[in-house]
Amino acid sequence: MVSFTGLSGFKWTVANGFRTNPGQTCPPVDNSHISNILLFTTNSLLVPRKLLAVRKFFIAGNWKMNLLRDSSVALVHQLMDQLHSSGNVDVAVCPPSVYLHDVGAALRGSVIHLGAQNVYHAAEGAFTGEISCAMLRDLGCKYVILGHSERRAIFGETDADVNTKLQAVLKAGLTPIVCIGETLAQREAGSTQTVVRGQCTHSLAGLTSDQMAKTVLAYEPVWAIGTGKTATPAQAEEVHADIRELLKGLFDASVANSVVIQYGGSVKADNANELLSQPNIDGALVGGASLKSESFLPIVQAAMKIKK
Ligand code: PGA
Repeated sequence: MVSFTGLSGFKWTVANGFRTNPGQTCPPVDNSHISNILLFTTNSLLVPRKLLAVRKFFIAGNWKMNLLRDSSVALVHQLMDQLHSSGNVDVAVCPPSVYLHDVGAALRGSVIHLGAQNVYHAAEGAFTGEISCAMLRDLGCKYVILGHSERRAIFGETDADVNTKLQAVLKAGLTPIVCIGETLAQREAGSTQTVVRGQCTHSLAGLTSDQMAKTVLAYEPVWAIGTGKTATPAQAEEVHADIRELLKGLFDASVANSVVIQYGGSVKADNANELLSQPNIDGALVGGASLKSESFLPIVQAAMKIKK
């Protein structure tokens, strides 16, 4: 065995004299270093696997304030009937909180995960109408959407609120989906980058690298949500790449390359393939099209077919 310090100060261990073909993954030679698997590039350079994009697609349905109990459970049954394995794709549905229990029960044993649309940061107490992270965990939730533009615009949630909730969600072992995105006026004023960078910087303040790596981001241009106007793949990719660049500065390249960044805003079966094929788009947060299996499943299937 040979040990050495590689890029970003990671300590690497590889078998002495071990060789692979260019581009092939070096098999783990020591279980304690399994996360530090190396890849040999065509130039025979050793590159930490984490510095290369090895992100899993993540497609989540945000049902918002739609469907009733029977229609929620019926939708889940339709999804489960047709989705037996999800390959390289994580899939989740986020029903209204009052149906989390029924939807969670219906999903048991399936490949589809459960997510909530919002949470309150406090552990418990006199907060009438609110729901805690522990309650969401109790109901089998894995994900929580935070700072959706509707919560920001209609309920006045700020980046500081999102940050407080984010800390609580991570502490509870749930996976946050933090939404950011500019309005039409902000895009037209040429301030998309400033707005999105500002939202990321303030919403993600104080996170450790480990916490950041466990956080999902969803870039959702407000002008594309529920309007039928999708950002072009190039417009979306430009912002996604810039968010990753920002994360490199706020954390490091390894964290930036491991964070899953979903796109959201009128994602449909007919635009999913092109959007998801962009190098920095790792999934979709789907609103309207997630309310029917025939419009949601083709988005999941589009992701399953893409090899990056
Ligand atoms: P939409 O909503 O797909 O209906 O545009 C997306 C979202 O708000 O998450």
